[in-house]
Amino acid sequence: MFGFNVDKVRKDFPVLNEKIIYFDSACMSLKPKQVVEKMNEYYYKYPACSGRSGHKLAKQVENEVDLARREVQKLIGAGSSEEIIFTKNATEGINLVANAISWEKGDEVIVSDKEHNSNLIPWLKLISQGVVVKVCKGNEDGTFNMKNFKDCFSKRTRLVAIVHVSNLDGVENPIAEIVKISHEKGVWILVDGCQSFPHKAIDVRKLDVDFFAFSGHKALGPTGVGVLYGKKELLNKLNQFIVGGQTVLDSTYEGYDEELPPKKFEAGLQDYAGIIGFGEACRYLKNIGFREIEKQERKLNELATSLLNGKVEIIGPLDAALRGGIFAFNIRGMKTHDVAKMLDASKGIAVRSGAFCVHSWFNARKMDGAVRASFYFYNTEEEVKIFAKEVEKICELV
Ligand code: ALA
Repeated sequence: MFGFNVDKVRKDFPVLNEKIIYFDSACMSLKPKQVVEKMNEYYYKYPACSGRSGHKLAKQVENEVDLARREVQKLIGAGSSEEIIFTKNATEGINLVANAISWEKGDEVIVSDKEHNSNLIPWLKLISQGVVVKVCKGNEDGTFNMKNFKDCFSKRTRLVAIVHVSNLDGVENPIAEIVKISHEKGVWILVDGCQSFPHKAIDVRKLDVDFFAFSGHKALGPTGVGVLYGKKELLNKLNQFIVGGQTVLDSTYEGYDEELPPKKFEAGLQDYAGIIGFGEACRYLKNIGFREIEKQERKLNELATSLLNGKVEIIGPLDAALRGGIFAFNIRGMKTHDVAKMLDASKGIAVRSGAFCVHSWFNARKMDGAVRASFYFYNTEEEVKIFAKEVEKICELV
């Protein structure tokens, strides 16, 4: 794409019209026509199974799935497409790793205090196996506290599982440094990239992360497709998680031989339309360019912050540049769901309300939740102005 033009881009998203202001992309992004059409192409032209039969349709699906895997590989800078495992979503990818390590009693996992349930519960579940979960407390403004992080390590630390960009306040954790420290201690690191992959250029090799999980549905892709990236040598070391068709090279009544990654982890028939659609989403993101995406989001967040700072209580740092496309806030005296309903009813503004699956963070502060507007590159300044005006009106009701 030559020069980013938001009006032109919006035409790819049929749901965007004057009746809808969609500020809930951190939960679920919209899908451009190109992605939906690519999925239809599968259903209309080659609705077969990949990796089994030898007929033409099956080979075509196989080829398309392979192309999608390579799109993902290129977009995140992975060394090989065998390091890309298709999952249902990031949650499944994280559960895969949690279930594929042979834990020993006393092993420790470090998480941050702002983890989505998807990167907290899989580790808490291991407590019943004797695993210890250590929570690294962040700074008051939501930024990462490196000293607290370093203090969490012990001789028993086995894994660091940390969010890249928080879905709560948009703050980016200093992953490169976190990885460096973890590796110096000989510890593997898994990164939850749900809120970073759709918004910023990712290079897993430069970051040197061991595992990187994300969902397609927050990145212009369909629901039901996610990715777990893992370094090849580590994927080889992991146990299998969900097993069945495609995860084995051979089987007898007594046993079986494991497949190699990625097949080792992709059990049963897959969501081929979704995977192929997600490949198209990756092409679309690449064409728009992450520089433009970040620029647009920052512009919108700066505008929202300048219009509403002092009128609402912003979650996270006041500097919008530190919050990516996330503007989460509370209006004192108002229930979060009521605010969301009013915004929806008045101007069709779709925002998220409640605890955004980060219940632990809100519970620790005895808060019910917040209201969250999350901006993406297809949103406009005009929309932000309408939103700010409506929020101000709600503030006046208190
Ligand atoms: N992680 C999703 C959100 O933040 C569900 O809305």
